[in-house]
Amino acid sequence: MRKTILTGDRTSGKLHIGHYFGSLKNRVELQDKYDTFIIMADVQALTDNYNNPEKVSENVMNVVLDNLSVGIDPDKSNIFIQSMIPEIAELTVYYSNLVTIARLYRNPTVKTEIEQKKLLFGEKGEGVTYGFLGYPISQAADITAFGGDLVPVGADQIPVIEQTREIVRRFNSIYGDTLSEPEHLLSETPRLKGLDGNEKMGKSLGNAVFLSDTEEEVLEKVLKALTDKNKIKKYDPADPDKCMVYYYHKLFSGEEAKIVEKECRAGERGCVDCKKQLAGNISNFLKPIQEKRKYYEERPELVEEIIKRGNLNAKKRAEEIMKKVRHSMKIDYFS
Ligand code: TRP
Ligand code: SF4
Repeated sequence: MRKTILTGDRTSGKLHIGHYFGSLKNRVELQDKYDTFIIMADVQALTDNYNNPEKVSENVMNVVLDNLSVGIDPDKSNIFIQSMIPEIAELTVYYSNLVTIARLYRNPTVKTEIEQKKLLFGEKGEGVTYGFLGYPISQAADITAFGGDLVPVGADQIPVIEQTREIVRRFNSIYGDTLSEPEHLLSETPRLKGLDGNEKMGKSLGNAVFLSDTEEEVLEKVLKALTDKNKIKKYDPADPDKCMVYYYHKLFSGEEAKIVEKECRAGERGCVDCKKQLAGNISNFLKPIQEKRKYYEERPELVEEIIKRGNLNAKKRAEEIMKKVRHSMKIDYFS
């Protein structure tokens, strides 16, 4: 039996090059070897966007297109929408008995997000909701309702997968061996930093290059990237290791990156030209991705068909697993 991969993205915005290196690239490579399910996590996106439902639903199509454009093959992978598989919500309810509130508060990913999104003291200001605090429980259901064995994710998600494993162990010890423990699969590339030097590239941080950005948008963003602050005049020598432009050159410019480093240190390179060169290389990298996106954008019926097929396959899996779950929990009445 082939192992199953379960991974996915919140549908609260378009995906960016940080997502690409952190998880998309990995899942494209893995889809040949595993039964692959990719969840459009609209329910999870609602946990902190409940008052902005259009944003969540409008971005479902964006995230589907992002996945298809980087090379997710609909004949190999199942793309499906979280809210259309009610079994996930059901399993979430059962799991919520198995996790203490103290444990939820201890999850480092959730802690960081509460800070970053200013859920406690920011403009939202109303405190952390039960739904947001509990999203790792719902994510455990996302993974296990489909028998996910492997979960390719970025490093920030490891604590959530760890919590999933705990829930599964607890479930099995109380109700009998029913579910298998998933494992995370980390991508080789470390998390991409933002253009501003922030440790994380994020849509809400305003430091991201999106997979669908036009040449002009890429250039505009790269021109604002953080460079070595000590470089004032065009031909001042500088330290490329203090510059985000060089950091990205290493990813997108191949051999040219070595020249960038040498010329930067020697004071033979102006920052504006250096940035234009990088923007060009990023756009070249994005070109085939955007061509594929256009192909699907022009065929909305095909995309709808892909999602419907993914939903159907996902639903079949979830129904089988939920039968076992209800049986183990002794709530399989009249069956
Ligand atoms: N939490 C993930 C993110 O923020 C999205 C996600 C939801 C997910 N359900 C999942 C990832 C299940 C892997 C498996 O990107
Ligand atoms: Fe950065 Fe290039 Fe300027 Fe050097 S020349 S500081 S690498 S932008």
